[in-house]
Amino acid sequence: MFSKAVLVFACAGIALATEFNPLHHSGPASPYFDAPTPEHVPEATPEGCIVDQAAYIVRHGSRFPEPGSFGGWKSLFQKIQNATFTARGPLAFLPSWVPPVDDAPHEPLFLTSHGAQEAFELGAQLRQEYGFTHGGKNFTVWAAGQQRVVDTATYFMRGYLSQGNYIGLSNENQGTVVILPDSVNYTSANSLTPSAACPKYSSGVNSTVVDNFHASYRSGIAKRLNEFLHGLVLDANDVGVMGDLCGFQAALNGDTRFCNIFKDEEMLDYEYAWDLNYYYGSGPGNPFAGATGLPWVKAVAELFGSGPNVTPANSTFAPPPLLMGFTHDNNLPPVLAALGLWNDSHTSPLSLTRPDPRRTFRSSNVVSFRGYIALERLSCEKPLSESVFHKAGVLNEVPGNSTKAAKYVRVRVSAAPIPIPGCTSGPGESCPLNSFLSHVAKREGIVGDFVKTCGLQGVKNATSVASFFTDIPKASLIGVVSADNLPQLTS
Ligand SMILES: *[C@@H]1O[C@H](CO)[C@@H](O)[C@H](O)[C@H]1NC(C)=O
Ligand SMILES: *[C@@H]1O[C@H](CO)[C@@H](O)[C@H](O)[C@H]1NC(C)=O
Ligand SMILES: *[C@@H]1O[C@H](CO)[C@@H](O)[C@H](O)[C@H]1NC(C)=O
Ligand SMILES: *[C@@H]1O[C@H](CO)[C@@H](O)[C@H](O)[C@H]1NC(C)=O
Ligand SMILES: *[C@@H]1O[C@H](CO)[C@@H](O)[C@H](O)[C@H]1NC(C)=O
Ligand SMILES: *[C@@H]1O[C@H](CO)[C@@H](O)[C@H](O)[C@H]1NC(C)=O
Ligand SMILES: *[C@@H]1O[C@H](CO)[C@@H](O)[C@H](O)[C@H]1NC(C)=O
Ligand SMILES: *[C@@H]1O[C@H](CO)[C@@H](O)[C@H](O)[C@H]1NC(C)=O
Repeated sequence: MFSKAVLVFACAGIALATEFNPLHHSGPASPYFDAPTPEHVPEATPEGCIVDQAAYIVRHGSRFPEPGSFGGWKSLFQKIQNATFTARGPLAFLPSWVPPVDDAPHEPLFLTSHGAQEAFELGAQLRQEYGFTHGGKNFTVWAAGQQRVVDTATYFMRGYLSQGNYIGLSNENQGTVVILPDSVNYTSANSLTPSAACPKYSSGVNSTVVDNFHASYRSGIAKRLNEFLHGLVLDANDVGVMGDLCGFQAALNGDTRFCNIFKDEEMLDYEYAWDLNYYYGSGPGNPFAGATGLPWVKAVAELFGSGPNVTPANSTFAPPPLLMGFTHDNNLPPVLAALGLWNDSHTSPLSLTRPDPRRTFRSSNVVSFRGYIALERLSCEKPLSESVFHKAGVLNEVPGNSTKAAKYVRVRVSAAPIPIPGCTSGPGESCPLNSFLSHVAKREGIVGDFVKTCGLQGVKNATSVASFFTDIPKASLIGVVSADNLPQLTS
């Protein structure tokens, strides 16, 4: 039939660094991939350290298009089908292409099966990586309330709880999904979608810069592609739809035919338009973004300060050492802005016309489907020496697990460790915990308090505190997930 890049999913992690992969430059349409680790930063947890607490803010997994962009796919299909034309070379597949949605009322906007797989894999991976949850124990995560986000949390949970067999034990190995109101304005900072509750936020978004950049490269691509067509003329708008179809189709079913029509530098322009979209829309270039990302950062910093499995004084709930929050693309860049990441003085603010290849801000590396920002609390001491003594009957302590161990914080964006500017004195360029807490306080001085910056002073119930980890909001719903609703074998 057509050539499918069947290895895209299985082998994304081992693609040669030097080989250009358009799916690592497709912005928010990229299927999940581990972002590249910056040079000179060690990727693994440093020797002698264990992670004793971690917090993840995760975009939902791969989904079908939103109704608006699905409309674009259908119009492109109509335009192609309405024409009598000849297509050559990389476009020879156009006359037989159909939009990859086969049950329209139930697909657009919702997760694809690959999205469910991405979520399940993260659950299994984090259970293995951290070993925080003892077999049979319950586990709680937090999710914004739209269906694709809740589904991502659910499939994550199935992966996380997939080890062992607890069939019939309704008190064990149960997952709880706390479902927070999604993109409403009455939650103020206490949600996983705080930008929607910041009235000034939209005044900081300038989409003209994105439109202008699109206008600078799309017609050139259309002109080049039209050389392969006789009787059909593609325009700049069609090129935009086809750019999205590269990542979306790959994430849906591995079909990379639309990726193959673009030259590498054309994909880089496509990606840069997304970089501008997120940098100036929800990242460091929106003066209100940092204040909306800060409440999550402060909530995590406070829990890291107390350490794992501690019930805060003003709460009745001890959140798990792994704090999972599932949300939408636009709620990740505000966290980068709050932390002061990816905004180096050499390449920021991003040029409106000329991509600087040295820039650290790359939308594909953070808002790919199921992309994430994680904070890890490291507990470190002297690594194992060359030769280790064991006394019969006494289990040796793992390095990092004694009460004397020093604490540090490491940031990982879609797996890649990202040093915090000005705070890299710890192992693996991590930030000592106390310095991290001062860094967060300093950043609050720069990006501003949520209520004040968003103009919510005097508004009833307005809060700058994301308290949902320790104080489950009354407006949330509770979903219970079991990994074990499978038929039980009887013989
Ligand atoms: C396709 O042709 C039909 C019938 O002539 C017309 O109504 C429709 O607007 C055309 N669609 C596109 C996308 O050109
Ligand atoms: C685990 O969760 C289930 C479902 O919410 C609940 O009934 C059970 O009491 C919980 N078990 C423990 C040990 O907390
Ligand atoms: C929330 O939105 C509604 C409807 O637009 C508006 O009336 C209300 O004032 C807003 N509330 C806040 C706290 O911004
Ligand atoms: C958006 O940015 C463009 C380019 O810098 C500028 O010309 C325009 O005035 C800005 N628009 C708004 C509403 O800030
Ligand atoms: C990002 O860097 C630019 C340029 O240095 C600066 O104006 C802006 O305030 C920074 N944004 C944040 C959130 O730190
Ligand atoms: C660390 O120590 C605690 C308590 O002594 C123990 O329960 C836990 O399994 C240890 N963790 C590791 C990674 O050895
Ligand atoms: C504000 O808080 C009060 C009491 O805590 C509650 O009854 C009310 O519903 C809240 N209002 C809104 C808009 O959330
Ligand atoms: C608990 O109290 C501390 C200290 O007063 C405060 O910073 C924090 O926001 C409170 N947490 C919640 C969930 O109310």
